[in-house]
Amino acid sequence: MAQECFLALDMKDIKDQWAYYFLKAAIGPNQRILDIGCNRGDAIRYLLRLYPDLKAVEGIDPDEVAILEARQALEQEFGNSARFSVQTGDGTKLPYADNSFDRVFCVDVLEWVAKPQCLLAEAHRVLKPGGHALVIHSDFDTQVYWPGDINAVRAWVHRFTDIGPDGCLGRRLLGLCRSASFSSVEPFVYCLVNDAFTENSYSYQMAMMMKDWLIRRESTWKEPIERWHQELTEASAVGSFFYSINRNLCLCTK
Ligand SMILES: C[S@@+](CC[C@H](N)C(=O)[O-])C[C@H]1O[C@@H](n2cnc3c(N)ncnc32)[C@H](O)[C@@H]1O
Repeated sequence: MAQECFLALDMKDIKDQWAYYFLKAAIGPNQRILDIGCNRGDAIRYLLRLYPDLKAVEGIDPDEVAILEARQALEQEFGNSARFSVQTGDGTKLPYADNSFDRVFCVDVLEWVAKPQCLLAEAHRVLKPGGHALVIHSDFDTQVYWPGDINAVRAWVHRFTDIGPDGCLGRRLLGLCRSASFSSVEPFVYCLVNDAFTENSYSYQMAMMMKDWLIRRESTWKEPIERWHQELTEASAVGSFFYSINRNLCLCTK
């Protein structure tokens, strides 16, 4: 949910989770990989850095500005290489041949798509037989922040997830993937944990984003949330801060 606002920060929390996703998807030499909803191409850059012997990594996203930025960042880091390409397009109408990718990623995209089943059908179509699609969605309603007034924090997290497109898509993901045509779908959960409320942490960036999101719509949230952020900062300084969020993963095999 609007995570793309801060994904470009090159955050360790984000890189660690992608490294876990790559292991789950069994990334290996000579694979051709597609990232549906690639945004600014962060995952493509991480893949090319970690796996220099991939055949190609490709990305597609309807956001023209994000694709321009992705192309610039990729060319800046890897030069003019045939090992990557990004293009604008819709994940529900992929411009690729059947059975053409070894791996497909689709991370935190489905909440934005009117017919997620159409995107999953396309992911299945372009995947080679035996290939894996790793479909992932955060379940934003599983966010736990400590300390804070427990009812107030619950109210903020619930309000944020309710106002957005679908804050509970993570828990619905397994059913969605199992209704597509994959031969098997295995569920996993990646739990992102923070023990510090510092600027370069996921929890901090989420807290700021939730604050902005809520204040823009309902200004009465401003003061209590700012007081709460101060409480989180103080707890972090003495080692008693805790944050977690669940990412739901489905490893789908064709
Ligand atoms: C929250 S961002 C996730 C970006 C990236 N996958 C990640 O995890 O860092 C959601 C992305 O989905 C893209 N998106 C929205 N509708 C889409 C569609 N129909 N097909 C493909 N991507 C779409 C958005 O443009 C945005 O870049």
